[in-house]
Amino acid sequence: MKTKRNSPESGSEAASESDPGSSAGRARHLWVVVPAAGSGRRVGADRPKQYLELAGRLLIEHTLERLAATPCVAGIVVALAPEDRYWQQVRVPAKVPVETVNGGAMRHLSVRNALLWLASRVADDEWVLVHDAARPCVRSEDIQRLVDCLWEDETGGLLAVPVADTMKRAAGTPPRVVETIDREGLWHALTPQMFRRRSLQGAIEAAMQAGVAITDESSAMEYCGRRPRLIPGARDNIKVTTAQDLALARHFLQREAGQQVAQP
Ligand code: CTP
Ligand code: MG
Repeated sequence: MKTKRNSPESGSEAASESDPGSSAGRARHLWVVVPAAGSGRRVGADRPKQYLELAGRLLIEHTLERLAATPCVAGIVVALAPEDRYWQQVRVPAKVPVETVNGGAMRHLSVRNALLWLASRVADDEWVLVHDAARPCVRSEDIQRLVDCLWEDETGGLLAVPVADTMKRAAGTPPRVVETIDREGLWHALTPQMFRRRSLQGAIEAAMQAGVAITDESSAMEYCGRRPRLIPGARDNIKVTTAQDLALARHFLQREAGQQVAQP
């Protein structure tokens, strides 16, 4: 653990009120892993994108606030780059414990480090969420719905949206279409993704050993033969990847802030 903010409190206590052998009997509380150790190369700003200002707050502050405001969230563990110089400026939500660990050189290594840290705090078969720091527009009601839909599921799953545009495969420079792909059954994978702590850690390690690309938690679970469930979520839960996405996220956040002010 790198730093500790807020008072510590065990998420597993909240999550095991009765019948510790099955999720069904447990109170619906779980920890969230937030990978935030990236450098934001594609945005190309003077600092990692999670620390850019967006609608009056840092991008990561929006993300943490939305997670903390979700009733099922018991605590948050944030994976930070070992050389991070900005975290100390972040105003963390007071509602739940927010802890930090060192991230790794790739996203899945950051997630794995956070899962290892959680190992002494939550039981092997407890659910955890993984949510990108770079998705500040996630809706609290979508997170709660994901958890409610999957709580008694065998495998777990993720927020996702069906692909709406016609999909093309291209090749060459400049790119030229070589194929139109049937979009039937195609979805965009979002976060949060929800899996049991130990099986997710094991899946990431197995995929790493096999040299398989791990682009999200689901891909590691899929490598292990699991079929994660897709829970439809809001389309504005975008991952800020380019400077253009920053403008879009700012628009979504300002629109929502405006709606809250307008409510009686
Ligand atoms: N992430 C991480 N550890 C890494 C790489 C990424 O924790 N070694 C996190 C990012 O901070 C981000 C999320 O994973 O919250 C999604 O990754 P991505 O959008 O690719 O962010 P970056 O890697 O920062 O951006 P880029 O790839 O453009 O450098
Ligand atoms: Mg990246």
